[in-house]
Amino acid sequence: MKRLVVLVTMLFALLFGLASTDVLAVPRGKSITFPRSSNGKVIFDGTVHNNSAKKGCRQCHNPQLFPRMKQGTVHIIMKNIYAGEQCGSCHNGHQAFKARSNCGRCHKK
Ligand code: HEC
Ligand code: HEC
Ligand code: HEC
Repeated sequence: MKRLVVLVTMLFALLFGLASTDVLAVPRGKSITFPRSSNGKVIFDGTVHNNSAKKGCRQCHNPQLFPRMKQGTVHIIMKNIYAGEQCGSCHNGHQAFKARSNCGRCHKK
């Protein structure tokens, strides 16, 4: 019985998770977490980012930046960010806070 409850709960969590990424995406009110860095996870906030994206989704979802609306498509590394690519296309001290010297504004332990 206990096992069944766990199973059903997991199934619901899975279905719900799939539905929310497919339909709701990362617009306002949603966020995605990048968990891989030893420096702490990074929470990408859809509200902050869509409010500042003048061209809407295409500001980021274009062939040069983050082509697919699927987390993990682009392998994000700091070298690229510092070079002005990926998150660094904005986090360069002009459009948004600079990545170097602001680790803690993205990475949270
Ligand atoms: C400031 C940049 C930015 C803007 C603006 C933006 N996104 Fe994203 N979005 C991302 C990044 C980065 C990812 C992760 C992509 C990757 O890992 O390759 C992502 C991922 C996604 C995902 C996949 C989420 C998941 O859990 O896998 C969806 C869906 C998505 N975006 C939809 C949208 C929609 C719809 C809009 C416009 C309303 C939008 N995004 C605007 C940067 C942005
Ligand atoms: C289209 C430009 C753009 C891109 C691309 C972008 N950001 Fe941002 N980001 C902003 C702006 C603008 C702010 C608001 C803060 C500021 O003005 O410095 C911000 C704020 C943030 C914040 C602080 C949010 C808060 O709660 O205060 C985090 C964390 C962040 N970005 C992470 C990321 C990550 C991770 C990526 C890459 C996956 C990324 N950003 C890509 C423009 C961008
Ligand atoms: C604009 C947001 C942002 C800022 C600022 C930032 N990072 Fe990152 N960092 C990320 C994202 C996103 C990833 C990818 C994490 C993942 O894939 O789960 C990452 C990955 C990493 C990684 C693992 C990959 C690699 O490149 O080795 C390290 C280590 C790291 N960051 C260190 C730092 C340090 C140190 C600083 C400050 C000097 C910093 N980060 C500032 C967003 C940021």
